[in-house]
Amino acid sequence: MISAPAPSRHAPPDPSAARLLERIDALARVSEQADGLTRVYLSSQHAEANRLVGGWMAEAGMAVRVDAAGNLVGRREGVRPGLPCLMLGSHLDSVRNAGRYDGMLGVLTAIECVEALGERALPFAIEVVGFGDEEGVRFQATMLGSRALAGTFDPTLLDLRDAGGTTLREAMAAFGLDPSALAGAARRREDVLAYVEYHIEQGPVLEAEGLPVGVVTAINGQQRFRVQLDGMAGHSGTVPMRLRQDALVAAAECVLAAERIAGAVPDAVATVGQLAPSPGATNVIPGRAVFSLDVRSPRDADRTQVAAAILDECRAIAARRKIGIEVVQTHELASCACAPWLQDQLSAAIAADGHRVVALPSGAGHDAMAMVALADVAMLFLRCREGISHHPAESITAEDAATGMRVLQSFIEHFEPRR
Ligand code: GLV
Ligand code: MN
Ligand code: MN
Repeated sequence: MISAPAPSRHAPPDPSAARLLERIDALARVSEQADGLTRVYLSSQHAEANRLVGGWMAEAGMAVRVDAAGNLVGRREGVRPGLPCLMLGSHLDSVRNAGRYDGMLGVLTAIECVEALGERALPFAIEVVGFGDEEGVRFQATMLGSRALAGTFDPTLLDLRDAGGTTLREAMAAFGLDPSALAGAARRREDVLAYVEYHIEQGPVLEAEGLPVGVVTAINGQQRFRVQLDGMAGHSGTVPMRLRQDALVAAAECVLAAERIAGAVPDAVATVGQLAPSPGATNVIPGRAVFSLDVRSPRDADRTQVAAAILDECRAIAARRKIGIEVVQTHELASCACAPWLQDQLSAAIAADGHRVVALPSGAGHDAMAMVALADVAMLFLRCREGISHHPAESITAEDAATGMRVLQSFIEHFEPRR
């Protein structure tokens, strides 16, 4: 008699990842605009995303809540209630005109993995978090959700204003949160065994290696600034070139200085992604220009030195052009090392799925950078097409999505807390 094959001990219910990809598409439709994805912190789309993803968490058997910072938290108990948890997750907010995998892939894959566990009791709880803010698009300071959960949220940030003048405090209240209760989002160290984030690579390394997944070693540190240049507005037809104090032209010089200075330091990067001249009329010399500056490096000393050099040069440019300058640092996060013991367990899961293990640093920022204040962290990266990210063309294959899901599943099932 031929006996039926023994059921695989940990068979995922959806090996094709078809449902995962359908859910990612459905979540991508929760957007400010009809023809693309933009979802910012504490917006009505954020609330709708929490409802949609919270429903999937509940279907997967998790107890679901929204914490005091607007993060969505699903919890699956272990062999008995109240055990410390393995925390998985990523963010549900996006940049403007975003791709659909950045952040969302990690949250939705973790939910699939939890559902795949079925009734099996583990010696630890699992929590899946959909952070409300990682990108920092609305208030310029990033990772407001993960910082609140990690207990490092600085309450003075509540005075930050979005482009429309709404403070973070007001936005929280409008979302139905109590800003004075924000500290309640913070979790206790003893309740979190580790934080593990699964994310698209957002770069070209895995594709070049011909590998679907990789283990992150460390995440680059980052700093952001708002620079305001004040010159003199005037008539574009009457003021001779030599008598102008054009704030936008000064800003243009600053942008070039950022490119030159960062370009001279290995692995450092600097970006001006926002530049707003005002009053913004064809026939008016820009009297004011406000721009953002984002500086990163794997080495914190290089990053701070590059940022200081760029800002010194901006001040010199402003002085030479008789233009006022005001610089505000809106954000700083140190580089973050991923815990070797967690990297080892992720590597074992990758090898068990039949892949060569490659370790790589992350140039992009991630919630793990904030979570490291609470727990040891690690990250699993998934290959994305041509490394394109923060762009609607962000893309992954169904086969890779299934691989990433299997690897994360295997990591969870074999997870051993640090002794
Ligand atoms: C987030 O994606 C960042 O790296 O800015
Ligand atoms: Mn991003
Ligand atoms: Mn991200």
